[in-house]
Amino acid sequence: MATAASLLLSLFIWPLLTRPAFAFLDRGDTYRRKVSLELNPGLNSSHTAPLGVINLLHVRATGNNDTLHFIFCSQGAPAVLLVHTNSSSSSLKVDWLKFLSGNLSGSLKIEPENSVHYSSALVFTRLWEYDDVNDTADPTHLPPSSFFPPYELQNFTWEDLNRTLNYTTHTAQLCGKGPTESFHNGSFCLGFSAFESEGRGPTWPRLLHNANASQVRFWLKGVTGRSGFSRFVLELQHIDSKELSSQVETLRSIDDEYTPSIFQVSQWVFSPINSTSPILGYVQWKPVAYRTESPVLNDATPCRHSHLMPMDQLPASDLVLAYFGDGYSAHGLNVTFSIAGDPFYNATDYLSWTVLVGLGSPPTESFSALVIGIMALGLGIPLVLILLGGVFVCVRKQRSVPQGYEPIN
Ligand SMILES: *[C@@H]1O[C@H](CO)[C@@H](O)[C@H](O)[C@H]1NC(C)=O
Ligand SMILES: *[C@@H]1O[C@H](CO)[C@@H](O)[C@H](O)[C@H]1NC(C)=O
Ligand SMILES: *[C@@H]1O[C@H](CO)[C@@H](O)[C@H](O)[C@H]1NC(C)=O
Ligand SMILES: *[C@@H]1O[C@H](CO)[C@@H](O)[C@H](O)[C@H]1NC(C)=O
Ligand SMILES: *[C@@H]1O[C@H](CO)[C@@H](O)[C@H](O)[C@H]1NC(C)=O
Ligand SMILES: *[C@@H]1O[C@H](CO)[C@@H](O)[C@H](O)[C@H]1NC(C)=O
Ligand SMILES: *[C@@H]1O[C@H](CO)[C@@H](O)[C@H](O)[C@H]1NC(C)=O
Ligand SMILES: *[C@@H]1O[C@H](CO)[C@@H](O)[C@H](O)[C@H]1NC(C)=O
Ligand SMILES: *[C@@H]1O[C@H](CO)[C@@H](O)[C@H](O)[C@H]1NC(C)=O
Ligand SMILES: *[C@@H]1O[C@H](CO)[C@@H](O)[C@H](O)[C@H]1NC(C)=O
Ligand SMILES: *[C@@H]1O[C@H](CO)[C@@H](O)[C@H](O)[C@H]1NC(C)=O
Ligand SMILES: *[C@@H]1O[C@H](CO)[C@@H](O)[C@H](O)[C@H]1NC(C)=O
Repeated sequence: MATAASLLLSLFIWPLLTRPAFAFLDRGDTYRRKVSLELNPGLNSSHTAPLGVINLLHVRATGNNDTLHFIFCSQGAPAVLLVHTNSSSSSLKVDWLKFLSGNLSGSLKIEPENSVHYSSALVFTRLWEYDDVNDTADPTHLPPSSFFPPYELQNFTWEDLNRTLNYTTHTAQLCGKGPTESFHNGSFCLGFSAFESEGRGPTWPRLLHNANASQVRFWLKGVTGRSGFSRFVLELQHIDSKELSSQVETLRSIDDEYTPSIFQVSQWVFSPINSTSPILGYVQWKPVAYRTESPVLNDATPCRHSHLMPMDQLPASDLVLAYFGDGYSAHGLNVTFSIAGDPFYNATDYLSWTVLVGLGSPPTESFSALVIGIMALGLGIPLVLILLGGVFVCVRKQRSVPQGYEPIN
């Protein structure tokens, strides 16, 4: 019996638990890139910085026959530029004299220019704060008088990125302060991460990434709210070719294991107009923010996004103005944190939200090993019991055969 059970176990259940057997479900992405970081490439002491620190981080993610360039920069509004080339030796060239003198147009290039296949950028433009006295958490239906003047991120003073740059983990943290007293004890921060291969972030929402993506985590810590009922809205802008169409969709996500209680994923995707050809690039997030630095389930708060708004001009990010020319336009999106009934910002003085920026189609969650294991056990154990029961009945029957049937009176 015991051998029969273990035979069944090894035949039916164990294969379900081991990874290769369900690769068809996992769709594991094994593509790897070689990632290297360089701060302010080509900048030397002969270039005098006009105002404060210069933070321009160049991340090269080299593949077999292509390169993904991520450029993370705090001059003007903070931004992440993504450039994909079909050459494994394309390079970034910054004309620092022009860049630093504000003669931005054309001062930042990826060379050779004809190797560039796709370019886009995500810009963090503004942080809005509103006085939610009636606890509606719905800024779109509030009078303009409920809004405080927005924090223009282009006017922030940023710390030196060099102090937080980690060349091993491919991460950097950019923290800055607004021009007002509210930032005396607090800051607005963006944590940038680049990746060599598929994986997940170490902290909630543990977004799934691959080698074609980078992640930006936003957090707002210790800032003094301008009201006891303050809530925040983060305004983002995305720059893409005018020939692309963009849309935001919220999909059901099957995997709750990594982001407890969140069954959705939102993504802003960019694809050619009138074409069924695949998505060229995306910005992806889970509709959840966290109200503490080391969150427990209770600290999760939902977030929502607004409709896309076409912008008349490119945002005031030096990186964007230096790289993009004609043929590109910007769309804006507001991300609203919290829902009615959730604590206001002053309860924890902390808020964090994470977003993935990538090339190609956004990663999709698949059943994890744990879920597969539970499913296998849930389906497998009854199956084993049924089979064992069958065997047992057969054995009983066979034993009882020689004695023949009892005569029926
Ligand atoms: C600084 O960079 C300029 C051009 O970018 C170059 O001509 C000059 O030689 C460099 N100076 C030093 C000290 O490396
Ligand atoms: C580039 O490499 C990828 C993966 O190795 C391969 O699928 C693709 O066909 C290659 N493209 C060209 C143009 O060689
Ligand atoms: C800006 O750069 C362009 C091209 O290099 C140059 O022709 C122009 O004179 C520059 N403008 C200023 C104000 O320096
Ligand atoms: C990259 O693409 C450009 C234009 O699409 C083409 O001219 C060039 O030959 C390509 N290079 C490689 C290495 O495939
Ligand atoms: C809050 O609710 C009160 C009573 O319903 C209403 O008079 C007031 O206009 C509301 N305030 C805001 C800012 O919506
Ligand atoms: C932000 O900076 C821009 C240009 O540097 C300036 O025109 C604008 O007035 C500033 N805004 C605020 C709110 O300080
Ligand atoms: C970063 O800091 C290190 C050590 O303080 C210094 O040697 C290096 O020159 C700095 N790099 C840049 C780009 O500022
Ligand atoms: C980079 O991160 C690794 C892993 O967290 C850590 O061990 C290392 O000390 C960090 N390096 C720097 C320069 O902070
Ligand atoms: C900053 O913190 C100090 C000490 O906790 C406090 O006295 C001060 O009022 C705070 N400043 C602001 C602007 O909140
Ligand atoms: C937040 O502000 C409100 C209104 O001023 C106040 O009643 C509440 O006690 C504050 N919460 C905290 C945790 O300070
Ligand atoms: C897309 O298709 C619509 C209707 O088929 C057409 O009117 C429009 O001009 C097309 N746009 C482009 C950019 O091809
Ligand atoms: C974000 O919200 C603010 C306040 O309602 C509004 O003024 C701004 O236009 C919105 N931005 C976008 C991109 O929708």
